[in-house]
Amino acid sequence: MVAKKNLCVLILAAGKGTRMKSPLPKPLHPVCGLPIIAHILKAAQALNPAAIGLVVGHEAQKMEETVKAGLSSWGVTAPLVFVEQKDLSGSGSAVKAALPLLKRFDDVMVLNGDTPLLETATLDNMYSSFQDNEAGAVVLAVSVPDPCGYGRVVRAKDGSFEKIVEHCDADAQTLLIREINSGMYVFKRSFLEEALLALKPQGPKHEYYLTDTLAFIKSQKHPVLVYGSQDYEQALGVNSKFQLSQAELIMRRRVTRRLMDEGVTIPNPQAVFVDAEAQIGADTFICPGCYICGKTVIGKNCMLEGNVYIKDSVIGDNVTLKMGTYIEESTVEEQCQLGPYAHLRPLSVLKKGAKVGNFSEIKKSVIGEGSKVNHLSYIGDTDMGAGVNVGAGTITCNYDGKNKHKTVIGNHVFVGSNVNFVAPVTVESYSKIGAGSTITKLVPQDSLAIARSRQVVLEKKGIKHD
Ligand code: UD1
Ligand code: MG
Repeated sequence: MVAKKNLCVLILAAGKGTRMKSPLPKPLHPVCGLPIIAHILKAAQALNPAAIGLVVGHEAQKMEETVKAGLSSWGVTAPLVFVEQKDLSGSGSAVKAALPLLKRFDDVMVLNGDTPLLETATLDNMYSSFQDNEAGAVVLAVSVPDPCGYGRVVRAKDGSFEKIVEHCDADAQTLLIREINSGMYVFKRSFLEEALLALKPQGPKHEYYLTDTLAFIKSQKHPVLVYGSQDYEQALGVNSKFQLSQAELIMRRRVTRRLMDEGVTIPNPQAVFVDAEAQIGADTFICPGCYICGKTVIGKNCMLEGNVYIKDSVIGDNVTLKMGTYIEESTVEEQCQLGPYAHLRPLSVLKKGAKVGNFSEIKKSVIGEGSKVNHLSYIGDTDMGAGVNVGAGTITCNYDGKNKHKTVIGNHVFVGSNVNFVAPVTVESYSKIGAGSTITKLVPQDSLAIARSRQVVLEKKGIKHD
């Protein structure tokens, strides 16, 4: 998008968010895996403005830290200036606190910090309408089925903008209006500045309403336009946990729609939970109950049977994840097969064609190409080569009560069932481990290690050794 040299986008995120009934600041509540504020920053960034201002107040430090930590992963590269609003006395005061920043710009787009569904194209069109009409201000308005809680757009007899009336201040007649203020505006900065200085406290909480600036600008004979959008969902403001769930549902629908447009097969999109940043290849089949969280990337042609959970992981092409598989911060290369009920804990890598099966847990380990850990095993802090067969019930004893130790298993090792590897320990390539062994020292290449007590059979007549 072309650079907008004269435009600063100002996001208001200082409010207490009282209706959320949560100690977490409202803009940090997640929608499809990203904080609300991240969705807004991403949409603002894509407009290509000269700068973005973020007004913080309630939990200012936490807000600033979290946003700064997320910026690069959200792709926000425009200069971002934090502005602190000391008195939390309304959206008008929030913008007033930012005036020193805004002085450098001709135009200001103001966005509420609680509308995660807004889209860049809508903001861009609103800005074009502002420019094309040489307006003093533009407000984005939508007609909604249930306007409860929103500021109503009151129009004059000729249909032009007259004023915005907040829900709590509206009379019965005004409450019937279904056209609402989305909380997204563009202003000529000089007009906005003048209007802010004229604001008077309003309503039951004696707040300075940003919305009152529009009527003021109009009273100064500058054109104020209502930019209407058909897509009212974009204006959803999150003020409560119920509205948070509505935003989540709509965003999730958008995400699954995008994926299906890209060729992913999702027979029941209402029943899968895919975060906004996930990427999935064509013809991957996602069954109900799957959670694909964070920055997960899944290749083409994979099968995700039901109830698969994947977080911040990379899955290659043609991978089968059977029912109940749980994967965190791991890499699974092409043609692997996991589950049912396999668990990859962080920093695990499954090389091409590896298999991890029923009730096996892998932690911070490499499972080499084509190797199999199919049943009831725990493999932790292990480097395993290619073509290894790990028998059922094999355990790496990686923790001595104080420290973690490594197990190294070479290529084409055969591990019998129910083996313990007491780490640190190395098993060289092509060796075999007898079932039930507890391995405590080096097993050299191409050897057979058995470390278990001999069987004793007690017969009626006495003791007989095998
Ligand atoms: C606001 C609008 C309303 C609109 C609705 C759209 C006002 C007066 N009302 O109402 O017309 O229909 O959004 O969602 O603006 N904030 C601050 N500092 C403050 C107070 C609020 O930065 O002192 C921020 C909040 O963090 C929030 C935004 O301003 O991101 C709007 O505040 P909120 O309390 O959500 O206003 P609404 O009642 O939703
Ligand atoms: Mg709100």
